[in-house]
Amino acid sequence: MVARDLLIAILERGRFLDEAMAANGEFAALSARDRGFARLIAVTVLRRLGQIDALLAHCIARPLPRKEEEARAALRMGAAQLLFLDTPAHAAVGETVATVPPHVRGLVNAVLRRLGREGAEGIAGQDAARLNCPDWLWQSWTAAYDEAGARAIAEAHLAEPPLDLTLRDPATAADWATRLGGQALPGGTLRLTGAGAVPELAGFAEGAWWIQDRAATLPARLLGGVAGQRIVDLCAAPGGKTLQLAAAGARVMAVEASEQRLQRVTENLARTGLQAETVAADGRVWRPDTPVDAVLLDAPCSGTGAIRRHPDIQRIKGPEDPVRMAAVQDALLDAAIQMVRPGGRIVFCTCSLQPEEGPDRIAALLARGAPVRRIPIAAGELPGLAEAATAEGDLRTLPGMAAAEGGLDGFYAVRLERL
Ligand SMILES: C[S@@+](CC[C@H](N)C(=O)[O-])C[C@H]1O[C@@H](n2cnc3c(N)ncnc32)[C@H](O)[C@@H]1O
Repeated sequence: MVARDLLIAILERGRFLDEAMAANGEFAALSARDRGFARLIAVTVLRRLGQIDALLAHCIARPLPRKEEEARAALRMGAAQLLFLDTPAHAAVGETVATVPPHVRGLVNAVLRRLGREGAEGIAGQDAARLNCPDWLWQSWTAAYDEAGARAIAEAHLAEPPLDLTLRDPATAADWATRLGGQALPGGTLRLTGAGAVPELAGFAEGAWWIQDRAATLPARLLGGVAGQRIVDLCAAPGGKTLQLAAAGARVMAVEASEQRLQRVTENLARTGLQAETVAADGRVWRPDTPVDAVLLDAPCSGTGAIRRHPDIQRIKGPEDPVRMAAVQDALLDAAIQMVRPGGRIVFCTCSLQPEEGPDRIAALLARGAPVRRIPIAAGELPGLAEAATAEGDLRTLPGMAAAEGGLDGFYAVRLERL
């Protein structure tokens, strides 16, 4: 029932999974194990929606009327359990049928039973990467990264990603790798698979580490040695990059528009015992008292680089989102430049795979004569990820990169110097 309602909130009402889980009282009341299973069903549907809907369409003579949202969600979650989660058929079918109104029970029962018999063969004949990727994203990624690149991205989105931790003290990586049973990756990320509930992991309560995808650690590192420098972390919540900069000895001002999200930064600072000034303000209008040494601008974006961790993004966002966000990114870039002293640095980054939210923004910035120049990023600055350095001297990670180690999120970053 809970998984069904999460799917209705996301796929019928356009809410994000995190919001849907937070708003669902029954979800909160479940045991940790049952919450984990409800979430797993939901993310499996979100990852495999194209395959699931194609199989369901094959089994249902006429599409379900729009208003039958409970039946639609139930069929999708039943299919996910039968075909991708190895739930025994009697449980997947019986429990799913019980969640739908009586007038559709016969239909849901018949369709799921048929899927139980024929589904495995159906899946074997499907092009999973293509079917599960929305058309606008496939077209955009094919244009930007060619068809093999688009396919590698879409394939990476099918699997549950590992849990990546950044250590407060990088010198302790080997110790924590042993204690947590993780793998210390080049660059300092500690990677865990099948980790379980985060707050219960060793080191969480004492703030020895925070959760941060390997790719998300790279932009702050592009500022080089930051000890003693005044740095604005513009668009700071939940604070992964603020923590990195503070741990490296910078004097950080963490600026964030959402007071509620800024609270997450404050909590993370308290847990890790790190220091930073927190400022609730719109970065487009806020300015520091005096120009700073550097700004790290992790701009709001469509988030298509984070689909493997947040598969709801690909079901909610559309082609209009990158276009809409580009205007905000331009305004924040102009503001960032005004915050920095001449000779100071700006790193602009987004967790987007869309060129409109990456290199296109910098091309437009330089074309309008902004007082900055690019400081190229060398492959040698990216331990174990040399392929992420682009010909233009920017950083571009793709979810299909470093696949043998478990991949990483899609990030774009550029490093600029204020003239
Ligand atoms: C990609 S997230 C930042 C992630 C963060 N840097 C980290 O590493 O944890 C973008 C953030 O920008 C904030 N934001 C959006 N528009 C903003 C604005 N005009 N000024 C400041 N913050 C803004 C959002 O609320 C969101 O928290």
